[in-house]
Amino acid sequence: MTTLAIVGAGPGMGLAIARTFGSRGFDIALIARTKDKLQTLVDRLGQEGITAAAFPGDVMDRASLTDALDAAEAHFGGIDVLEYSPAPHSPVPGITLAAASEVTVDNLHPQIEYTLYGAVAAAQAVLPAMREAGAGTLLFTTGGGSVSPVAMLGNVNAAAAGLRNWVINLHNELAGTGVYAAHVAINTWIGDGGPPGFPTATPEQIAPLYWDLYEHRTRSEAVFNG
Ligand SMILES: NC(=O)c1ccc[n+]([C@@H]2O[C@H](COP(=O)([O-])OP(=O)(O)OC[C@H]3O[C@@H](n4cnc5c(N)ncnc54)[C@H](OP(=O)(O)O)[C@@H]3O)[C@@H](O)[C@H]2O)c1
Repeated sequence: MTTLAIVGAGPGMGLAIARTFGSRGFDIALIARTKDKLQTLVDRLGQEGITAAAFPGDVMDRASLTDALDAAEAHFGGIDVLEYSPAPHSPVPGITLAAASEVTVDNLHPQIEYTLYGAVAAAQAVLPAMREAGAGTLLFTTGGGSVSPVAMLGNVNAAAAGLRNWVINLHNELAGTGVYAAHVAINTWIGDGGPPGFPTATPEQIAPLYWDLYEHRTRSEAVFNG
């Protein structure tokens, strides 16, 4: 069996990516902070014939994140694909929005912890085994502002741009090793309730892009424009 671990697994992109890979034979490890919400997703996937299990962990608490990934690896016998896409739909301590001119070290630092350090910690939990096996996939998600910044998201975009830069660099360094890394920039609002006039897409419309990257293993980045 092959296993996908989703860090930041929620009812939007997390569930849609789980379904995309699960319907193609993957087991799914779901990681987020809230055990009950994860269990709901496990149950929904189970009803669709997809084997999933919950591993609570917090990307702001790197030890808990590493423990969750280690537990998932032990449970399923390995992690073949890592996908990183936490989103603070429920409050995350220290995470606030700041326009570009309002960015301070204090409001940027938690964004970097959340987006970049969490992703680096997740990758380091699985990369050594992938390198040893000469196989594996690492996918990291941000918003379109990582590529084309939006003034009102100054601190979010700066941290996401850091993640994007590192993932593209990782992609290049890993070329020829059998391990593949790529960045996904979602340049739409996901689901309902977006700002008027802003393009929207459903998680189900976006998730096939992840399978396409996994299967073709060529691009360092994909931008979803709707
Ligand atoms: N939503 C949008 O409009 C939008 C637009 C562009 C790009 N994106 C990108 O899409 C991805 C998210 O997709 P989504 O919005 O559909 O979200 P989702 O997959 O529905 O949910 C994300 C999950 O992340 C978990 N999470 C939050 N903080 C966490 C933490 N500290 N540690 C571990 N897990 C945490 C949350 O669960 P807990 O609260 O239980 O931890 C939440 O359920 C992100 O990469 C985001 O940058 C989103």
